[in-house]
Amino acid sequence: MDPASAPGGPAPTACIARLSGVVYAVGGRTVFDGLDIEIERGKITAIMGPSGTGKTTLLRLITGQIRASAGRVEVDGEDLGGLNRDGLYRLRRRMGMLFQNGALLTDLDVYENVAFPLREHTNLPEALISRIVLMKLQAVGLRGAARLMPAELSGGMARRVALARAIVMDPKILIYDEPFAGLDPIAMGVVLRLIRSTNDALGLTSIVVSHDVQEIGILADRAYLLSAGRVAAAGTPATLSADPAPAVRQFMAGEADGPVPFHYPAPDYAEQLLGGEVPA
Ligand SMILES: Nc1ncnc2c1ncn2[C@@H]1O[C@H](COP(=O)(O)OP(=O)(O)OP(=O)(O)O)[C@@H](O)[C@H]1O
Ligand SMILES: [Mg+2]
Repeated sequence: MDPASAPGGPAPTACIARLSGVVYAVGGRTVFDGLDIEIERGKITAIMGPSGTGKTTLLRLITGQIRASAGRVEVDGEDLGGLNRDGLYRLRRRMGMLFQNGALLTDLDVYENVAFPLREHTNLPEALISRIVLMKLQAVGLRGAARLMPAELSGGMARRVALARAIVMDPKILIYDEPFAGLDPIAMGVVLRLIRSTNDALGLTSIVVSHDVQEIGILADRAYLLSAGRVAAAGTPATLSADPAPAVRQFMAGEADGPVPFHYPAPDYAEQLLGGEVPA
């Protein structure tokens, strides 16, 4: 049992993850320049923003795959900057992650993909592993697909298998990177419902990265919109939709023209073409 929720123990704080003044630069480019984000315990928080604004990078900071250049990242009561490898490893076991590209192991069947984290991190007997895997597959409606190979799954099914694998270690925080990308409306509805029911039934905290404004409107309790290395807006999805700031309106309404640039930063176009310059 979580000591924070033990009777008589300290009351769990409302916030399970917090980024304060986070700066992150990579390859000579500042991705974040003073980012402040709070993830509320038990809720579904959406991280939105145009392509390339750093949504996946933010998830990598929260899971400790990369370290902030400045500022503080706290997750589940731990300051990530002060954790050594072992500490980070233990913290990561409390987080489940659905990667942007699915990332099922192609030479293992569905059952073995879901069993994989249990085999890696525990010494549980086979009978128990089998029971846990079947329960998780049942939760995503794919118990009958246990012996299919990833190549035999549709995109929506693969997403659900990845979800079963992400919850197999009973994480406290579940992180989704673009869970709706490339799904048809029905599969999208199934995944939406699964994210909500998983969050509520397992009592965990979910972070969902997405640029699907409509889906986030239905799903998220709270949303952050990132733009130009900072939080451009935060609040309920309804508050964001009503925000009159041009950068927020452009994203929420899906307008091509506005303050969010189409071009990745580049040297002067005419100079580069006329000078016959090859990109460095
Ligand atoms: N390892 C890296 N080396 C150099 N640049 C990187 C690296 N990782 C990310 N970046 C840069 O950081 C920025 C943010 O990338 P990130 O993948 O976080 O964007 P994103 O918001 O997830 O985009 P998308 O919606 O397209 O997935 C991009 O400009 C990218 O080029
Ligand atoms: Mg991304």
